[in-house]
Amino acid sequence: MRITFAKPAKIARGAVVTGVAADRKMPKAAADLDRASGGALGRAMEASRFQGKKGEILEVLAPAGLGASRVLLVGMGDPEKLGERDLEDMGGSALTRLNRVGESEATLLVNAGRGGGKGKGAAAAERAARYAYGALLASYRFDRYRTKEPKEKKPSLKKLTVMVGESTEAKRLYGELEKVAGGVFLTRDLVSEPANVINPKSFVAEARALDKLGVKIKVLGEAQMRRLGMGSLLGVAQGSANEPQLLVMEWNGLPRSAKAGGPVAFVGKGVTFDTGGISIKPAGGMEDMKWDMGGAGVVAGLMKALAARKAKVNAVGICGLVENMPSGTAQRPGDIVTSMSGQTIEVINTDAEGRLVLADALWYLQETYKPRMIVDLATLTGAIIIALGAEHAGLFSNDDTLSEQLTEAGKAVGEPVWRMPLSEAYDKLIDSDAADMKNVGNRSAGSITAAQFIQRFIKKGTPWAHLDIAGVTWTKKDKPTVPKGGTAFGVRLLDRMVATHYEAK
Ligand code: BES
Ligand code: MN
Ligand code: ZN
Repeated sequence: MRITFAKPAKIARGAVVTGVAADRKMPKAAADLDRASGGALGRAMEASRFQGKKGEILEVLAPAGLGASRVLLVGMGDPEKLGERDLEDMGGSALTRLNRVGESEATLLVNAGRGGGKGKGAAAAERAARYAYGALLASYRFDRYRTKEPKEKKPSLKKLTVMVGESTEAKRLYGELEKVAGGVFLTRDLVSEPANVINPKSFVAEARALDKLGVKIKVLGEAQMRRLGMGSLLGVAQGSANEPQLLVMEWNGLPRSAKAGGPVAFVGKGVTFDTGGISIKPAGGMEDMKWDMGGAGVVAGLMKALAARKAKVNAVGICGLVENMPSGTAQRPGDIVTSMSGQTIEVINTDAEGRLVLADALWYLQETYKPRMIVDLATLTGAIIIALGAEHAGLFSNDDTLSEQLTEAGKAVGEPVWRMPLSEAYDKLIDSDAADMKNVGNRSAGSITAAQFIQRFIKKGTPWAHLDIAGVTWTKKDKPTVPKGGTAFGVRLLDRMVATHYEAK
């Protein structure tokens, strides 16, 4: 689908999309259409339950007097109160509807007026860009392997024109958002691909494409990791025929002259398939474990977004890529491994593998880059799904400022996180009689003990946050800007946090 911006002009064909406020109040664009159609829109609203509330859409087919095939009236509620998320949702919902009804071309009319400041709604150009961004995010589809889908079932929209007075400014704003969407789409692709396609090496191959954007790529294979003493990560990988990889992506967006200090750092769990290993998982639902590399997928997508929009920040992204398989070479429950940090770990349960991978990836990061702060992302525990469902990611952190930044950014982009506790009492639960620690606690507080484990690999004084994204990485139902499947939860959140707090002005 192609999205373009244009100044208001006569519409000859296709669908027209425009907003209607609460109590069926028609702003200028809708009122003009209503007049041209001899009042057809007003009558259609009266004949329906459409009130103009947020989330409502009324489709008026082939109204007389207009060249349009249909008019989509999109409920706005109070237009003065529309936030960026509402605008994106409206764009996304309208696009989804157009694709379902078979429309191939559409024009979205943006009302003039209400320009920034004074606590009123956003300026027209900003609103136009947000509608378009929402539509773009909603247009994502992973259908590479659906060879027999009938044409009528495929999305139909080829061209969306957003009509707005300040079309040049709208286009510029949209251009920046489009780059973030590029990161989101890379993540969704990586997460959606099955594990016979995405393994540690093919993940790296996909990430190599980022060098075109100026991202420096470095890859450590098994032998290098062995030399560095990454026994924790390698223990997870040893049952698999696929060699593990440690993928390092650097984006240096600050001039060399800038007194930069350490980079901001992001670390992702990249278990390209998690069978559980010898502590094998039950068969039912095991196919979901193809997206156990969701954290790594977000890190790759984020690096793409930062590089594409030339973010003024030095950032490093590290993905610990392994496959967790049972085999004659797999690690056993009770095995004791030595991590790169020198700390020893008794592997009680081989299915608690994500933390073992992160332990060495995090240590390597800190030894190599001395980062100013770290955020790790991992589909780490089923327990976080029990606690928070699919509505929030779990946030664990040793730093209140970082926690607030993540919480605020999450709210702003619609990827909310909820902070969970850490404490010495929880930390004790992973003490081991045989080694420095064990990789699981008892059944209680499973997400917290997992976070405590990770914290044992964070050096004192480094601000760190862990996002447990097990509940939010995949969705089984469509949302306005997130079609069912891989969500890329975390890309927009971290891009926003970097933009707000870590970029040079
Ligand atoms: N990848 C899983 C966690 C997971 C579960 C992610 C469901 C997404 C959906 C992780 O490696 C795992 O197996 N965790 C175990 C830990 C347990 C053995 C302490 C779990 O949550 O059951
Ligand atoms: Mn597991
Ligand atoms: Zn896992």
